[in-house]
Amino acid sequence: RRRLPRFLFDYIDGGSYAEVRLRRNVSDLENVELRQRVLTAVDEVDLSTSLFGQTLAMPVALGPIGLGGLTARRGERQAVRAAEAAGVPFCLSTVSACPLEEVTAAASKPFWFQLYMIRDRAFMRDLLARARAANCSALVFTVDMPLPGSRYRDFHSGLAGAPGWRGALRRTLQGMGKPGWAWDVGLHGRPHSIGNLAPVLGGKSGIDDYMGWMKRNFDATSSWKDLDFIRAEWGGPLIIKAILDAEDAREAAKLGEHGLIVSNHGGRQLDGVPSTCRALPPIADAVGDQLTVLADGGIRSGLDVVRMLALGAKGVLLGRAWIYALAARGGTGVSHVLSLIDAEMRVAMTLCGAATIGNIGRDNLVR
Ligand code: FNR
Repeated sequence: RRRLPRFLFDYIDGGSYAEVRLRRNVSDLENVELRQRVLTAVDEVDLSTSLFGQTLAMPVALGPIGLGGLTARRGERQAVRAAEAAGVPFCLSTVSACPLEEVTAAASKPFWFQLYMIRDRAFMRDLLARARAANCSALVFTVDMPLPGSRYRDFHSGLAGAPGWRGALRRTLQGMGKPGWAWDVGLHGRPHSIGNLAPVLGGKSGIDDYMGWMKRNFDATSSWKDLDFIRAEWGGPLIIKAILDAEDAREAAKLGEHGLIVSNHGGRQLDGVPSTCRALPPIADAVGDQLTVLADGGIRSGLDVVRMLALGAKGVLLGRAWIYALAARGGTGVSHVLSLIDAEMRVAMTLCGAATIGNIGRDNLVR
């Protein structure tokens, strides 16, 4: 909050409508109690795991955050390097600040790419080809954005709802009030564009152009059969993001997808759905033996990671936990958060008597 202009801080920190789901994602997870076990002779804990054919240092990925790269100088470049150093995957958002190719040049290993269903199928095809050319190791296909949820804070801050010079002036003034950010990103972090959208924004790169494009291009007509199109264009692992219902999870399993992410978009879409830690167990029970079930939402510590694993996830994605860190201290901040998560997981696992990730399960929960 101290570092970012208000429109960016509120964009990251906020959720939709009354923000009840945003708060419950955190508080419901905090209330999940783990069974402490003692004298279990667990003196070495192994956090490593394997997801979609990749070996990870821990079952944690940096989830997709749109506009994330505007919080620190060429932010996604810094984040992908921090993720690599920690041995975890980085997932680039469709609407990142840095384009796929720039992140590829900064990375030394393949990263994940996230895609939305977009009305312009030719553009989707083009993006998928770019992701393949970038050698992305998994495609995260986000399905809870047939239309954007209303985030009232974005209207109050001047990010949305005030198109034209008034909004731009408010954002500029907010930026000038944060000299650290203005120097790091405002001056030295250019271009301030939505990198992957350059081909469709036609040379325009303002936030208003982006917001207008988003409104026009999210596709509420799409259905499960549209996944055929994605599968035909994408040969690698496909992970469906934002499943909250066991029936939808069964549908994804029936279609033979590789994985799904139990997610409510960090409380940014429908503010009336279950928190993800409540939605996860029935979904893991329904399809956990057919595809890889991941989860996100409200994870703020290594202890929270262990809680999600105990509830049935095979791995988790971080959202705000890494983007707050990037905003505060760039890539160093992200590395720091990942090292805290590593350390906290070790304490939690030792005191739960679980020496490996595979040892964590429902048995670790207080019923
Ligand atoms: C997101 N999220 C998101 N998801 C996605 O599939 N594509 C995107 O571009 C974005 N953009 C985005 C921006 C911001 C500022 C936030 C906070 C979140 C959702 C994100 O990937 C993840 O599901 C949630 O952030 C998880 O919740 P927590 O960890 O933030 O509580």
